[in-house]
Amino acid sequence: MDGHFDGQNPAKPHFVVVPLMAQGHMIPMADLALLLAGRGARVSLITTPVNAVRLRAAADLAAASGLTLRLVELPLPCAAAGLPDGCENVDLVPKQDLFLPFFRSLNLLADPLKSYLRAQPPASTCIISDQCMPWTMEVAGELGIRRLVFHGPSCFFLLCTLNLTKHNLYDKVADDLESFFVPELPQSIEVSKMTAQRFCDWPGMNDVFRHMQEAEESADGVVLNTFYELEQWCVDEFRRKVGKEVWPVGPVSLFHKDAGGKAVRGNGISGVDGGAGVLKWLEGREKESVLFVSFGSLARTRIKQLVEIGRGLEAAGTCFVWAVKEAEQSEEVDTWLSEFEERSGGRGLIIKGWVPQVLILAAPAVGGFMTHCGWNSTLEAVTAGVPMVTWPHFADQFLNSKLVVEVLGIGVGVGVKLPSFYQATEEAAVVGRDEVERAVVSVMGGGEEGEEMRRRAKELGKKARMAMEKGGSSYENLTQLIDDAMALPLAQ
Ligand SMILES: *[C@@H]1O[C@H](CO)[C@@H](O)[C@H](O)[C@H]1NC(C)=O
Ligand SMILES: *[C@@H]1O[C@H](CO)[C@@H](O)[C@H](O)[C@H]1NC(C)=O
Ligand SMILES: *[C@@H]1O[C@H](CO)[C@@H](O)[C@H](O)[C@H]1NC(C)=O
Repeated sequence: MDGHFDGQNPAKPHFVVVPLMAQGHMIPMADLALLLAGRGARVSLITTPVNAVRLRAAADLAAASGLTLRLVELPLPCAAAGLPDGCENVDLVPKQDLFLPFFRSLNLLADPLKSYLRAQPPASTCIISDQCMPWTMEVAGELGIRRLVFHGPSCFFLLCTLNLTKHNLYDKVADDLESFFVPELPQSIEVSKMTAQRFCDWPGMNDVFRHMQEAEESADGVVLNTFYELEQWCVDEFRRKVGKEVWPVGPVSLFHKDAGGKAVRGNGISGVDGGAGVLKWLEGREKESVLFVSFGSLARTRIKQLVEIGRGLEAAGTCFVWAVKEAEQSEEVDTWLSEFEERSGGRGLIIKGWVPQVLILAAPAVGGFMTHCGWNSTLEAVTAGVPMVTWPHFADQFLNSKLVVEVLGIGVGVGVKLPSFYQATEEAAVVGRDEVERAVVSVMGGGEEGEEMRRRAKELGKKARMAMEKGGSSYENLTQLIDDAMALPLAQ
């Protein structure tokens, strides 16, 4: 246990923030933890030893700013759960059939968390639990403390899937690929069971999924990483449906207003130069001329698909920064990429490994973002006011993409119809070079459609930043959330 922690002041509420150990979940929840601590609350950020390395930067940042945030490492007995040693993160699960044991193993964190909380001085305590950590329900129940659920995805995704659940469409529609419309939305949104899949609603995971549903229904409120102005209609409807407090408090990434904080977001263990090289390269480019291409931390792109992306970028004639993950590299890939980079004659930069995404998106030279539409990435683009080329892969990404393209009008899809799962085995390319070219040109080509999208994206970016300022909707909702917690009786 480390970090500055003022345990003596019961006037401060104590928030216990519990992210699922997956990069895309830990990033926003660490930001939420920092935001709460920044407003004077005491925060315990719960993780495991392997993941503590990735959250160290957030804890150090808190310590340097005198915030009362403590990184709490609970042991995860991997061997007992039938997992390899150190298999403590979704991205460390080596094969598909270990996902079930992984998700079940999370329940083993309940006892250590109870012991930790029992050892704390009395305070008004509130757990903010990742939706994927349903075991916190038992902890909160036993200790008699309040529990809020944090949702990573867009409210649009949550509302659509809730509605499909209520209408029993996940059971009624037999074919996974059959298209149908989400009932009763003000706009026609066409989905299939595969593209509107709920989190962890996978074959063989029924018990895990049901546990999550139960934990969500019994929660005292819902915290969302979105802002009211982005999804007003959805947030209102969602609140009506779930019948409890819903707090939109995002984009949480805006906690980091300074460059240092932005750069340390993410998996700070990669050997790159903290992104200095790419930022320097961007400085020399024309305003809004560069497309940033990156598909998040989980999706893997195969060589055939990399080639189609490359050819598409080449044909579109746009400048680009393309982030290729370490896990995607092989000799074949490396050779092709070097030749490709050379051929592009200085128009493009390929970066291998982790990149400072928020800083890249904020660079004036960046005028578009080809993204997998993970919600964190989507929100980061919205905040930066950058239009998107959407290429969803799985989970909430298809509905996030629909929100971006069909509802908000700030992006163009590359035309993916089917999910491609992480560690997928398919060798063929999913999207051809022509599709890549078409989508890139509509966003980057300076046409009327693209310029209109850019204008809307900039406007939303302004609203996002305002939401997080004092007096803004997210700021005030966070105040309300903290005030509510202060009014709780002292726990333990
Ligand atoms: C962002 O986080 C949410 C959960 O907190 C996750 O569902 C989503 O896929 C993440 N996106 C990325 C970029 O990994
Ligand atoms: C589906 O959503 C619409 C719009 O929010 C709502 O009017 C309708 O009652 C919902 N249906 C169900 C069964 O939840
Ligand atoms: C806080 O969020 C709710 C939606 O849950 C919204 O109605 C309200 O306007 C927001 N608060 C402020 C001060 O904007």
